[in-house]
Amino acid sequence: MSASDDQSTPVTYEVADRIATITVSRPDKLNALDKATITALGAAIDRARAASDVGGVIVTGAGRAFVAGADISQFPTLTEREAREFALHGQTVFRRFECSPKPVIAAVNGFALGGGCELALACHVRIASDAAKMGQPEVKLGIIPGYGGTQRLPRLVGKGRALQLILTGETIDAHEALRIGLVNAVVPGAELIAAARKMMSAMLANGPVALALAIETIDKGLDLPLEKAIELEAENFGRCARTEDMREGATAFLAKRAPHFTGR
Ligand code: COA
Repeated sequence: MSASDDQSTPVTYEVADRIATITVSRPDKLNALDKATITALGAAIDRARAASDVGGVIVTGAGRAFVAGADISQFPTLTEREAREFALHGQTVFRRFECSPKPVIAAVNGFALGGGCELALACHVRIASDAAKMGQPEVKLGIIPGYGGTQRLPRLVGKGRALQLILTGETIDAHEALRIGLVNAVVPGAELIAAARKMMSAMLANGPVALALAIETIDKGLDLPLEKAIELEAENFGRCARTEDMREGATAFLAKRAPHFTGR
């Protein structure tokens, strides 16, 4: 594994086998997201997106939490304007995870509450440790989710379940999260990172342009009427035909050999 960055920063970044691991690292505060941590998360995903030695990203947390939410210590003095800017800052950073052309897996190792659940929601896939606890407890603090939770949670688990979670502020365990479709899989905690790396490796065996176009088509298409969305699908299917990887994939299949994708 390559050397990770300075451990005193709130977010560490390391690359091994074309997988960048971004770790939120304020364990004494259960990785709560203060402004510096959100900014560092943005820098980390931008770095991974730009890095030629990175094909995909795993996001996780240090210690017993994934992320226990936005840092509550900043809330008591927030003005209306500051609160709006606070939401916009986190939303903008999380959108950069969601729009990443390289797949992003959240490895939810523990508490993923509030902004932590929202960070996981902005990732393409979520794998949870059996010790994970998830929820949107903002209403207990007199606020609503502000980092995309009101929109991504109902899109993922359905309006009724999202309303239940957001209006009660209840915390659910990993198995309930799996049952309602909030996470894709639950594994023993000790196997979490290995499971995330295994799934990422399966993704990275595929053509990078196809991965990027699949992410883009799903992301943009879900907000379009079906007729427009399938037009977009056809457009992006067409873009695949510009790539050498499309020929390589089909040729390798017909020759009964493994494909060698180059991203061109
Ligand atoms: N913001 C700021 N600090 C937080 C935090 C947050 N969202 N979540 C946890 N912390 C801090 C605690 O204040 C505590 O700091 P301290 O040791 O300096 O007092 C430390 O992290 C450990 O948390 P603690 O509450 O002692 O751990 P616990 O195991 O008893 O409880 C939680 C864990 C996750 C249930 C509890 O910390 C919690 O409810 N956190 C807030 C979750 C939340 O509402 N998130 C949404 C925010 S919008």
